[in-house]
Amino acid sequence: MPNALDAAAKDALFHEAHSTSKFTDREVTDAELHELYALTRLSPTAVNSTPLRIVYVRSAEAKARLLPLLAEGNRPKSESANVAAILAADVAFLDHLGRLAPYITDPTKIFPDQQSVEQGAMFNAALQAGAFILAVRALGLAAGPMNGIDTAGIDAEFLADSSWRSFMVVNIGHAARDGTRPRGARLEFDEAVRVI
Ligand SMILES: Cc1cc2nc3c(=O)[nH]c(=O)nc-3n(C[C@H](O)[C@H](O)[C@H](O)COP(=O)(O)O)c2cc1C
Repeated sequence: MPNALDAAAKDALFHEAHSTSKFTDREVTDAELHELYALTRLSPTAVNSTPLRIVYVRSAEAKARLLPLLAEGNRPKSESANVAAILAADVAFLDHLGRLAPYITDPTKIFPDQQSVEQGAMFNAALQAGAFILAVRALGLAAGPMNGIDTAGIDAEFLADSSWRSFMVVNIGHAARDGTRPRGARLEFDEAVRVI
């Protein structure tokens, strides 16, 4: 298996990585924010639709607008993070399909109505959100995903007059020593998997 990751890489992405609630003051650089998107955009999506959109909230002014739109218990988490990334799904992703998937001559065969377009946007953006969290970890940073957020409020405050619909906030930074909780239980193979 020449392409398999070594144990240290698996530890960084999975075994030792945790959802993080408290971060140090160390900055997340612009280069890291760019690389994070460069990695995330490579994740697979239906017909290469890549509907995930991101708003990196970093300035004190923008943070002050975001914090009231989070569940109360989540506010100190985003306050402590160097960057809070608003993840959104672009319900107008079909506008880019000619470039992203030129082989699709008739997108209405795949997305026949507005409901299927919106479901496709949300489903594929959520897949990309998983890749985003792994990309954060791959850069040596920690991620704190949250959907205890007021999505309508965030859309009105940050995404008005756009086709982007928020669904999650992921806090990003360098984990503080006491920034994570012990690993919760996971289901065993036989409980969650069938091999047929
Ligand atoms: C979609 C999603 C929503 C979540 N929402 C919240 C949240 O609102 N607040 C919070 O503190 N943690 C939230 N979490 C973090 C989960 O509780 C955490 O990922 C899970 O317990 C696993 O923890 P671990 O990564 O330390 O193993 C969320 C995670 C995901 C993926």
